[in-house]
Amino acid sequence: MERLRAVKGMNDVLPEAIPHWRRIEQTFWRTVERYGYGEVRTPVVEPTGLFVRSIGEATDIVEKEMYTFVDKGEHSLTLRPEGTASAVRAYIEHNVAAREPVTKWAYLGPMFRRERPARGRYRQFWQGGVEIYGDPGPFVDAEMIDMVVAMLAELGVKDLEVLINSLGSGDTRARYLDALVAYLTPHCDALSEDSQRRLSTNPLRVLDSKVPKDREVAAGAPKILDFLGEEDAAHFDELQRTLDALGTPYRVEPTLVRGLDYYSRTLFEVQGKGGELGAQNTLCGGGRYEGLVESLGGPPTPAIGFAMGIERMLLVMGEDGGAIRPDVFVIVADAALRREGALLLKELRSAGLSADADLRGQSVKSQLRRADKSGAKIAMILGPSEVERSVVQLKDLAAGEQAEVPRAEAAARAARIAGRELV
Ligand code: HAM
Repeated sequence: MERLRAVKGMNDVLPEAIPHWRRIEQTFWRTVERYGYGEVRTPVVEPTGLFVRSIGEATDIVEKEMYTFVDKGEHSLTLRPEGTASAVRAYIEHNVAAREPVTKWAYLGPMFRRERPARGRYRQFWQGGVEIYGDPGPFVDAEMIDMVVAMLAELGVKDLEVLINSLGSGDTRARYLDALVAYLTPHCDALSEDSQRRLSTNPLRVLDSKVPKDREVAAGAPKILDFLGEEDAAHFDELQRTLDALGTPYRVEPTLVRGLDYYSRTLFEVQGKGGELGAQNTLCGGGRYEGLVESLGGPPTPAIGFAMGIERMLLVMGEDGGAIRPDVFVIVADAALRREGALLLKELRSAGLSADADLRGQSVKSQLRRADKSGAKIAMILGPSEVERSVVQLKDLAAGEQAEVPRAEAAARAARIAGRELV
């Protein structure tokens, strides 16, 4: 009998991988809540027209990657390839603009694109994303980019680069597209087949191509930043000043265009360098989309958002980055003190700390090694004299400092070092 298998490019996540996923999901929710976003849950399936009209007919997603089917009622439906279009549809359908001047939504869930599967590129993948409606920026643009960087830092992703660009709005784009086509047309023969076709359907996408010969031609293309109108230029300038003020590092990348048609003005991506990312190194991407709400039937509404790929985060974080790190690792100097160790663990956990230990009766040296490997921030060491005097030796593993602390104060002291609130 033929073995049944999952659909190519769609993955199971088994229990041993779940802690890594949870850590990302929890950090995502904790962060976005701190910035005032409410969660929105939209259906996984939408009318096909929603994606065609928002993402754009001449994009890779709509041209070749959508899972589209006709249901029994003869409606053309599509598994959502991203979250922005659905969020905008819901925002319009529930008339949210009439109730609140500024709306901040966040979502996390599976998306579907029939891409060629590779490391970090799947046909079902998960995105965490946010959208803001009603604020023209540029201060929220900077805040959003800063939030992404803070979130990645909390997840331990250090080796990254933030790229920003501006696509300008209405007039700018039209003037730039004319100049781009005028530049690309004489180079047409040097372009890949795909880019030759794009030259007439969607010339911006030529800049996005990964084909080396396309990139060579694109390198000499006019830069959109030279075409920005006064207001677009001021917007982009203030974005940079605000990022500077927030201390968020970034690089202006004038060839950044991204693969969806709805963008205008601010664009950004966060690219990772470490881990096992390979070619799929874009962790997060987003930007402003000033015309989309109106073009789908809503009131004129400025908007901005981004999404991050959860699987790519897993790759860049590697095994250690994803592991649950206890705040405290308890070490007993003597196997006879293991019951005391179990009690200390319980005290710490009831106080709201995460705590772990190796109570198999190994040597102190081996327990210290386990503490180190666990990534714990603090070790608490119990010997017979500590138990007798109701104290613990508390070692800050990052700072390498050790102090004797009364047992009753141990949790509070550890919470301060670990940056946690006690319950
Ligand atoms: P996107 O750049 O198409 O943007 O996707 C955002 C992120 O999703 C990517 O940076 C990547 O991490 C992840 N991703 C995309 N495709 C795949 C795939 N096949 N396999 C694994 N991960 C993938 C959007 O989707 C926009 N909706 C973002 C946005 C929100 N713009 C404004 N608001």
